[in-house]
Amino acid sequence: MSNKIILDTDPGGDDIFALLWLQSLIKQGCAELVAVTTAQGNVDAKTTFTCASQILSLGKLEQVELGRGVVFQGVEIADAAYIHGVDGMGGLSQTLPPAKHDFSTAPASDDLIIDKLNKHPGEITLIAIAPLTNLAAAEIKSPGILKKAKEIIIMGGAFQVPGNVTSHAEFNIAFNAKAAKKVFSSRNDIVVLPLDITKQLIFTPYMAEEIKKINPQNQLSEFILKLSEFMTKTTLFYRETSGIPGFLVHDAATIAYLFYPETLFLQRAKVEIETQGNFSKGQTIVDGRHFAKTDVNSWVALQANAINLLAVLVEDLKFLLLP
Ligand code: BDR
Ligand code: CA
Repeated sequence: MSNKIILDTDPGGDDIFALLWLQSLIKQGCAELVAVTTAQGNVDAKTTFTCASQILSLGKLEQVELGRGVVFQGVEIADAAYIHGVDGMGGLSQTLPPAKHDFSTAPASDDLIIDKLNKHPGEITLIAIAPLTNLAAAEIKSPGILKKAKEIIIMGGAFQVPGNVTSHAEFNIAFNAKAAKKVFSSRNDIVVLPLDITKQLIFTPYMAEEIKKINPQNQLSEFILKLSEFMTKTTLFYRETSGIPGFLVHDAATIAYLFYPETLFLQRAKVEIETQGNFSKGQTIVDGRHFAKTDVNSWVALQANAINLLAVLVEDLKFLLLP
């Protein structure tokens, strides 16, 4: 039986790598994509929708239902177009065929999540690689709905490392901290892939060159290379990889957790979200003191085998390019 998946995403360069990896696993018969729900985050809701639609088409998955992101008016931090480009893909949207999904008639992402989880209770893994606005909105509209997911896997947070949007906060959590709080209180087995491990996941243009060799004339192989080059430039400028040429494929860690769990080591914890705080808003906190804990809510990845994780990502992307 294959894994039924809903991907909640805000593409974003690293979101695109997560989606392409998932497309390879679908091609290999390991996963079934029930829906993609786009979210406001790295760029605005309409742009993430368009970008996701174009990437789905690249993988011949244009039939997959696509949700439009619930708009959150209270954002206090800048979006991340400075890293991902204004189209969420380093200006490459112009090189791809236009989006096949229609934003104006698309279902809202929270409604799509509610609908799919009600239709397949206990069967769908919800992978969230964006701010948690859509998931929280679904839980507010239909209390208890998130418990109907088989599992919820989130890229977000920073525990024992600095944040990436403030000294303490990571983007997906800080963008809508109240939504994150809502989601973390929805069940007691949330899986969290934080910056602690994703800061080790440096995808290099060399890896993209190697992938391209499989099928040099293919549009997708050229796209992967160009996107890697763009992301590497902005990543180096914003000093995210200690000067190593490459970029962080944060969101791909969720796919690794699901399909290559041997690459990650997780710790049981109670994750708290700071929603106030002058300097710490959006911070994710766990209590590491040795006092009995009675209300843990998460599994947090704090160590990764980054070399093996990146190696399987590269091999699966090569598989996507096979005729
Ligand atoms: C997260 O923030 C976004 O910019 C990335 O796509 C990723 O989901 C990393 O902090
Ligand atoms: Ca993302």
